[in-house]
Amino acid sequence: MRAIEWDGKEFKLLDQTKLPRSVEYIITDDYRVIINAIQRLAVRGAPAIGIAAAFALAFASGRIEISSRDAYVKALEQIAGEIVTARPTAVNLRWAIDRLMKRAHAMDDVSAVPSSLLDEAEKIREEDIQMCRQIGINGAALLPDSGGVITHCNTGALATGDHGTAQSVIVTAIEQGKKLRVYADETRPLLQGARLTMFELQALGIDATLITDNAAAFVMKQGKAQAVVTGADRIAANGDTANKIGTYGLAVLAKHHDIPFYIAAPSSTIDMGSPDGTAIPIEERDPKEVTHPLGTQIAPDNVNAYSPAFDVTPNELITAIITEHGVITPPFKEKLITMSTAGKVDQPV
Ligand code: MRU
Repeated sequence: MRAIEWDGKEFKLLDQTKLPRSVEYIITDDYRVIINAIQRLAVRGAPAIGIAAAFALAFASGRIEISSRDAYVKALEQIAGEIVTARPTAVNLRWAIDRLMKRAHAMDDVSAVPSSLLDEAEKIREEDIQMCRQIGINGAALLPDSGGVITHCNTGALATGDHGTAQSVIVTAIEQGKKLRVYADETRPLLQGARLTMFELQALGIDATLITDNAAAFVMKQGKAQAVVTGADRIAANGDTANKIGTYGLAVLAKHHDIPFYIAAPSSTIDMGSPDGTAIPIEERDPKEVTHPLGTQIAPDNVNAYSPAFDVTPNELITAIITEHGVITPPFKEKLITMSTAGKVDQPV
């Protein structure tokens, strides 16, 4: 099941807030509806957000009245600015919008911009699918021949163009014959692990066990997990990695139990403009998502709650970063600079 579908006529977003209980789509070509879908996590996961944002800008570009090239480009820049701020942490969103704006800025005939941006959005989606496939192939060898793998949040097809990132690594390893059991953290507060990862792994017929986030330490202590693999929302230039809240805790636990901790992400998630994790903006979400999970009140009225959506795992806790270009081991800073110099990572505009 794909998060984003586009057949050249109809643009569909699978409404992930409704999963797993119901499969519903948002059919739209209105960029404001797509922004809203990104903000309320109907479409989520760093690469999928980037793809949705690219289509949003492409659709909007066709609705701008052309009085002059300058006025057109100014209007497009303003919409791009609105889309970029939909969610702050996943850099894929800004990366995708930068790609489209670069194309638009290079064009003299702005009447051709909408079809060109749509081409670019489709390209971003296709490339993401290929990158995710390659991440799986590159990372599968790192996993043991048998044992348990802990993952966090949702990093499957639903979070990307297809295949996923960390999930692609695990699924590819299993396709290669490795006997792996996945332990999926439920991922409070929005339960992407319980609702989405378990939904996808069950559909794929993978041996998967749901655990509460706070069970991960004990699962490791019991020797049930031999590796941890998660995705990323932004990888800073020194390898510090922002991902779903709780990832940092898992990395600390993995270090304590001497278990390898892997990050899997496409190069579009690497932000050479953030020197380290302190430069990564961390989204804070409505505390109600903590006090009222899935709409049910679980805390007294009017309590304070704090809801950072992401945390940053310091690079020293990361065993390796798996990208479509290969596996990077420490020291990350030097290797990321080499990748970037080789044109394998886009520089921020
Ligand atoms: O808030 P979400 O659901 O968008 O958070 C998603 C994650 O943190 C994923 O782990 C990350 O985007 C990598 S997905 C391939």
